[in-house]
Amino acid sequence: MADKTPPTQLSPDDVTPTAENEQPVSGRLSRRSFLTHLGAAGIAATAPPLLGATPAPVMEPAAAAPPEAEGVVSVTLKVNGQVHPMKLDPRTTLLDCLRENMDLPGTKKGCDHGQCGACTVHVNGRRVNSCLSLALMHEGDEITTIEGIGQPDDMHPMQAAFVEHDAYQCGYCTSGQIMSAVALMKEPVGPTDDDVKHAMYGNICRCGTYPNIVAAVQQARRMA
Ligand code: FES
Ligand code: FES
Repeated sequence: MADKTPPTQLSPDDVTPTAENEQPVSGRLSRRSFLTHLGAAGIAATAPPLLGATPAPVMEPAAAAPPEAEGVVSVTLKVNGQVHPMKLDPRTTLLDCLRENMDLPGTKKGCDHGQCGACTVHVNGRRVNSCLSLALMHEGDEITTIEGIGQPDDMHPMQAAFVEHDAYQCGYCTSGQIMSAVALMKEPVGPTDDDVKHAMYGNICRCGTYPNIVAAVQQARRMA
C-alpha cells in the first residue's frame, strides 16, 4: 500500500527552478540570475556614478596658454618717425602689419606676391615691396609709408604733381606709384621719360594712367 503521507513542507533548496519561481539551487546561480548579474555589471560600468558613490578622479585639462600668447613675438618698429612696440605672429608681413596692426591703410595690397608695387614703402630710404618682407626683419629700420610722405594739407611735391597731372583714376596703385617715384629721385635714373618708365616698371597701373604718371614724376624731378 502506497504511503499516502503528505509531503512535509518543502525547503527552498528542494524547489525545482521554473520560469515562475527561479531560485538559487544548492548555492549556485541559475542561468537567469547569472545573466541578470552580468547585465547589471555592464550597466554599472557605463553608467554615471550614483549619488554617494566614490567619484572617479577627474582629469584636469592641461593648462592651455592664452591664444594670443601662442607663438607671438615682441617687436618694435619705427614707422613714420614713431616707435611702435607690439606683439606679432612672426609670419606677419610688413604690409599686413602696417595695415592691420598699425592702422596705416594707405599702403595697398594688390597681388600680395611682389608683382604690382601697390604695397611699396621705404625702408631706410629705399623702396621695398612690403608684401614680400616680414615685419620682424625690420626692427631698428626707418620705415616710411605714404602717410609719412605728406598729408592733404601739406603734400610732398610728388603728391602735388600727381594731383596736378591727374595721374590716377581709381587710385589703388597711387600710393605705391608715389612711394616709388619719391625713392627714384635719389636713385641714378636718367633724365628721359623712358628712364622714368624703366625705373617705375615694378609699379603696375590697371587704369593705364602711365603718361600722366611719367609727366608728374618728371615735373617733381625738375622742381627738385
Ligand atoms: Fe606687394 Fe603687389 S601687393 S607687390
Ligand atoms: Fe587705378 Fe592705377 S589708378 S590702378
